[in-house]
Amino acid sequence: MTCDQIGSIVILTGAGISKESGLSTFRDTDGIWAKVRIEDVATPEAFEKDPERVQEFYNARRRGFLSESVQPNAAHQALADLERRWSKDLLVVTQNIDDLHERAGTRSLVHMHGELLKVRCARTGQVYPWRRDVTPEDACECCGSTGTLRPNVVWFGEIPFDLDRIYAALQCCSRFIAIGTSGQVHPAAGFVAEARRGGRARTVLLNAEATDTSPLFDEQVLGPASRIVPEYVEKLLAENRD
Ligand code: APR
Repeated sequence: MTCDQIGSIVILTGAGISKESGLSTFRDTDGIWAKVRIEDVATPEAFEKDPERVQEFYNARRRGFLSESVQPNAAHQALADLERRWSKDLLVVTQNIDDLHERAGTRSLVHMHGELLKVRCARTGQVYPWRRDVTPEDACECCGSTGTLRPNVVWFGEIPFDLDRIYAALQCCSRFIAIGTSGQVHPAAGFVAEARRGGRARTVLLNAEATDTSPLFDEQVLGPASRIVPEYVEKLLAENRD
C-alpha cells in the first residue's frame, strides 16, 4: 500500500463477522471465553503444561470450521465484492483464524492472529495446511518429529503476524472500518487510533453493539453484520461512483 494513494481502505474484522456463519464469538454472553479460560487453552504456558488439552480445544474448533453448515455469510461476500470493485488499495486485516474471508473471495488479506487450518512445527518453524485433528502421534512433515506440531495461531503473550504491513497500511489509509470486534484485545484495539492520527482517516465501526472504542469512530452503524456490511458497502460504492 502506498501513502500517496488517496482512497485506500483498511478493514479490521473480528469474531462478530463470522457469528452468523455459525461460529462463536469470544466475549458475548454465549462466547468461547464464557466456557473456557484463556489461560487454560490460549497461551504458550497452557500448551507447555497440557498440550493435549490445548490441541483438543483447537481440534474441536477446527472441526467446527470444516462442518458443512459453516459458510461465508453476506458480510464476508460484501467485503470480497468491495475489493473487486474498489479501484484503490484495500487491505482486510482479520483477527479471525477461520478461512471464511478467503472462501468468500477476499485476496488482500492478513490473518494477524494466524490460521487454524494450518499447523506449525515448533522445531523448524515450517507452516503447512492441516484439516484434521492434531494428535500426539502426528509426525511433522518436514522433520519427522512427533509432538512438535501446534496450531498456526497467535496465543495471548505472542506477537501477532504481519504488524509491519498492517501499520504501514494504517498510516496511509483514508478510511478505516472495524467490523464485529469488541476492541478489547491489543494491538488490534489500537488500530483505530493509529488510523486517526493526524486526522487522516475517516473511521467507521460496524458492530452488533457499541464498544469501549466507539467514541474513537467518526461513524457507527449497529446491527447484524450480514445486514449492515452489505448496506455499508453499497453506500460506499455509490458515494464514490464518478
Ligand atoms: N454482527 C456484528 N457484530 C457482532 C455480531 C453480529 N452478528 N455478533 C456479535 N457481534 C459483536 C459483539 O457485539 C462483539 O462486540 O462482535 C464482537 C465480538 O467481540 P469478541 O468476542 O471480543 O471478538 P474479537 O473482538 O474478534 O476478539 C478479539 O480476542 O480472544 C481473542 O484471539 C481472539 O481474535 C480474538 C480476539
